[in-house]
Amino acid sequence: MTKNKYILAIESSCDDTSVAVVDISYNIVVMNTSSQPEHVVFGGVLPELASRLHMKNILVLVESCLQQSHLSLEEMSAVAISINPGLIGSLLVGLSFAKSLAWALNLPLITVNHMLGHVFANHLVHGYIDPPYLALVVSGGHTELINFESDTVFTCVGKTLDDAAGETFDKAAKLLGIGYPGGPVIDKLAKNGNPSFYNFPLALKQKNDYNFSYSGLKTAILQFLSSHEENWIKEHQADLAAAIQYAIVTPLVKKTVRYAKLNNIHTILIAGGVAANSYLRAQMDKAAAQIHAKVFYPSLTLCMDNAAMIAAAAIPKVFKGEFADLSVNAFSDKGTRYI
Ligand code: KG4
Ligand code: ZN
Repeated sequence: MTKNKYILAIESSCDDTSVAVVDISYNIVVMNTSSQPEHVVFGGVLPELASRLHMKNILVLVESCLQQSHLSLEEMSAVAISINPGLIGSLLVGLSFAKSLAWALNLPLITVNHMLGHVFANHLVHGYIDPPYLALVVSGGHTELINFESDTVFTCVGKTLDDAAGETFDKAAKLLGIGYPGGPVIDKLAKNGNPSFYNFPLALKQKNDYNFSYSGLKTAILQFLSSHEENWIKEHQADLAAAIQYAIVTPLVKKTVRYAKLNNIHTILIAGGVAANSYLRAQMDKAAAQIHAKVFYPSLTLCMDNAAMIAAAAIPKVFKGEFADLSVNAFSDKGTRYI
């Protein structure tokens, strides 16, 4: 253990630059995030633009965190940085900055997997949650069911074989012509729609399979929408959003709760951008109650990419003294892992 209790964390894996100071008891002291609205006109994230914007924003965010917290860099115990997965250029901006800080201040550098950060966001909201637990990680690029024995020992028991849940929300919204990112728009529209308006296919219904698949659903949505007039689609937008959301969310809920039931797990953590989905939350709570499992979600803000979750995932490494060498590199391989 180091003498100070604060961790300075940086997140720059995709299109949000975020800096936070978190203490080793999972309390957020300060966090500043700069999302990049510049990508919206392109209907997706432009990697090079994202890297350049991280470069522009990162120092300003560090300075404002220090100013707002009245803390100095010398009071930090470590610098934590997400190095995987993500856009490689974006990751490298954050990592280079974090390395420079760690080197100049002689502070330990802690490297974190971004997806593990999403899971650990739950500890920031609910206080430390004791393992064992099952985590459903659902974001723009990931759909994974992970069995946690401890903070550092866990196994992926199911994952998407093709598209991720968030990606499917985004693609469906694009096809419906309702904007990007699609998840929040579909979530909002679906509140006034009928989930049984149309039965889109639910993938992988086999009982003992915990993998997910969304490519069939994506094709079905494309085929359905291209066989209908634009005006008709506009008129039935809310019902279509509800039916699509039902088809994305139902396998997530069924497989998570089935796995928890068969393995006698009573704590479930939901993580990633899609954890913000109101229908997923309602359906998951209902199904988990039937097996007497408790479900935890991050706050809506902490479901999104943020630096506080990177600090949270660094805490076990602070206690273990697991620090990175300054020659460490970023990498973009998908998956929740302990690095
Ligand atoms: O975790 P995240 O911020 O970025 C990645 O690490 O990928 O997740 C972004 C994803 C996007 O696909 C977005 O559409 C989805 O999370 N999302 C939602 C909601 N809010 C964000 N999906 C469904 N319902 C929401 N309310
Ligand atoms: Zn993320």
